[in-house]
Amino acid sequence: MKNSDVPEILELGEELFDTSVFPYSMWSLSAIAKHLDQQPEACHVAEAGTLKVGFVLASMPFFDRKDWGYVEWIALRPDFRGRALATELGDASLRALYRSGANRVVADIDASNRESKLLARSMGFTELTTVTLFAGPSLDWVKSPERGEKVLSGEA
Ligand SMILES: CC(C)(COP(=O)(O)OP(=O)(O)OC[C@H]1O[C@@H](n2cnc3c(N)ncnc32)[C@H](O)[C@@H]1OP(=O)(O)O)[C@@H](O)C(=O)NCCC(=O)NCCS
Repeated sequence: MKNSDVPEILELGEELFDTSVFPYSMWSLSAIAKHLDQQPEACHVAEAGTLKVGFVLASMPFFDRKDWGYVEWIALRPDFRGRALATELGDASLRALYRSGANRVVADIDASNRESKLLARSMGFTELTTVTLFAGPSLDWVKSPERGEKVLSGEA
């Protein structure tokens, strides 16, 4: 992937991810730049002629794990799915990450994303852990007498 690909990849991601829901709402220019700045060799575009049909974005580190590679974004236009293209893109990132010294490569996958889980399993990824995102109580709880601000005993 080249820097000049970024505007088209940003638009393609907006088309292919449901950016109204988490975690796809995190899709942004900086989400692309994070990986492309860090490790361009782990970021790839699939093209059919002049049309960009898919991409993968990956890099190291994964949060504080400097030796972990992170495959964060992968997507293909619907017409180009089911042809092992995503597998090829993912494999290219895996090779680049391991060549750069990764000891482990991870991907965080939304539990409801069946296709993404199938892709990961077929590429040889196995489940490490499952995290559930809990939403806190709504802003209304501030107004409720039970949960509202209280003066704790001992407080001046
Ligand atoms: C996830 C995604 C990239 C997979 O693309 P793909 O073209 O289906 O991937 P591949 O053709 O390489 O298939 C990979 C494996 O998943 C399986 N698979 C993927 N989608 C499937 C489906 N709908 N039904 C059955 N199997 C499916 C394939 O059969 C294959 O397994 P195999 O190697 O055992 O045959 C694609 O569905 C996509 O772009 N989704 C929208 C974006 C997204 O949610 N990305 C992931 C989060 S970042």
